[in-house]
Amino acid sequence: ERRGDLTGRRVVVSAGGTREPLDPVRYLGNRSSGKQGHALAVAAAERGARVTLVTSAAADLPGVEVVPVETALQMRGAVLAAAAEGDVVVMAAAVADFRPATYAPAKIKKTHATHVDGTDDDSAPTITLVRNPDILAELVQTRGASDSPVIVGFAAETGDDDGSVLDHARAKLERKGCDVLVVNEVGEDKTFGADDNTVTILRRSGGQSVEVGPATKAVVSDAVWDVVATLL
Ligand code: C5P
Repeated sequence: ERRGDLTGRRVVVSAGGTREPLDPVRYLGNRSSGKQGHALAVAAAERGARVTLVTSAAADLPGVEVVPVETALQMRGAVLAAAAEGDVVVMAAAVADFRPATYAPAKIKKTHATHVDGTDDDSAPTITLVRNPDILAELVQTRGASDSPVIVGFAAETGDDDGSVLDHARAKLERKGCDVLVVNEVGEDKTFGADDNTVTILRRSGGQSVEVGPATKAVVSDAVWDVVATLL
């Protein structure tokens, strides 16, 4: 019986694409809508969990404590803090791998280089990027040899049409050291922003992978919680 099978469990879900600011009006972002993560949060609450949703996509969801964030660094802080008390952490967010090395406190001008003689030039600025921390990797590292919290990662893979998506995903699951990896194929109009999703759910402990979809993100969410529930 699904309803109530997560009662009393503390669940942390991250969702949405992080936004990495360049200046007060501009950011580097991605196409993640946050819909799958939000559906996961709602589904967990319906099954009785106490849910903290760390998200870059504004949301008011029934039974869910929402922590709004914008950047990867903010998401890291909020996720690690909530995870310290969590039984399960699901990293459904599309965390930016890189952020601009510097933040310009005033809007970057079209004529950006003002020389000592007072002239401008119309060359384009160069944006230098630095790596963001890998939150999922930190969760796994922090957990150490303990088996709590259960850690779930997502992998957005663009298929190469050679059946290699699952091989890549298995390797990623081993490399990342999380317990479950939810793999979805992404592309121009697939998954991002869509209401439906098609995923394969892999367990590090082995066993059959679970294929779901095309199905609503709510149905996909319940399939993910079904797998997680077996690990609690
Ligand atoms: O390696 P890749 O970015 O494909 O891994 C995706 C998984 O790692 C997702 O669960 C995502 O939320 C997480 N991730 C993270 N921190 C990053 C990048 C990805 O937690 N900086």
